[in-house]
Amino acid sequence: MKKVLVFLMMAVVACSMLLTGCGGGEKKAAEPAKVLRVGTEPAFAPFEFPKKDSNELTGFDVELIQAIGKQMGRKVEVAGMGFDALIPALNAGNIDCAIAGMTITEERKKAVTFSDPYYTSGLIIMVKKDNDAVKSIADLKGKRLAAQIGTTGEMKSRTVEGAKVTTFNTQDEAALELKNGGVDAVIGDLPVMEYYLAQGGDKYCKTVGEKMEAEQYGIAVKKDSKLAGEINQAMAELKKNGEFDKIYKKWFGEKK
Ligand code: ARG
Repeated sequence: MKKVLVFLMMAVVACSMLLTGCGGGEKKAAEPAKVLRVGTEPAFAPFEFPKKDSNELTGFDVELIQAIGKQMGRKVEVAGMGFDALIPALNAGNIDCAIAGMTITEERKKAVTFSDPYYTSGLIIMVKKDNDAVKSIADLKGKRLAAQIGTTGEMKSRTVEGAKVTTFNTQDEAALELKNGGVDAVIGDLPVMEYYLAQGGDKYCKTVGEKMEAEQYGIAVKKDSKLAGEINQAMAELKKNGEFDKIYKKWFGEKK
């Protein structure tokens, strides 16, 4: 009887140790620090998009962050999520950084810290191929506009007087709505629109007017996180050793 009691007590102690994560738990906890948890919104070619016939992501941002991680000696794990979920995920500590063609804006700088800029972009208007009425943003007054949710394209659309703005989870969905005639124009990032047109979108759509204001993409980290400095250091090294240029050229050709 006594033996049984002792055994039971030992079993209870063992169980509680397992539950509280004592013994052996610590070793595991140290490991995740090595992984750089990256968030992105992965329908944004040529910056982040799935490889053909696979779930694996590729693109300029994806290759850049992989090179940065390698330089930092950290394993890179990229998770896809909604664009508007990236900053909340950083703040919640669910990811360490976000690379998603994200424009450095004063508004976002209140919520997160950005790395040094790594790409110069800008917004452009896209309309149906046969639309000759729209030449610039001034011609969009009172029109139906589409943009990806939470993006600078959405913000710009909302400044257009009398426009009816519809937001979509991805840039592709916004473009599809234009193709289907649900909206009159899309406002979004120039390099992404150009890629879309080059991939066959030019059968239905075209961009018009000039690139609207220069935007800089940055890698976002949690507000005031030291990680921004480490990323900058790694990126500076990649710029020095030619790796950055190699990745840039692969996706965009020679620097303009
Ligand atoms: N550059 C724009 C912005 O920061 C759009 C970025 C969208 N990125 C994406 N991966 N879907 O608002």
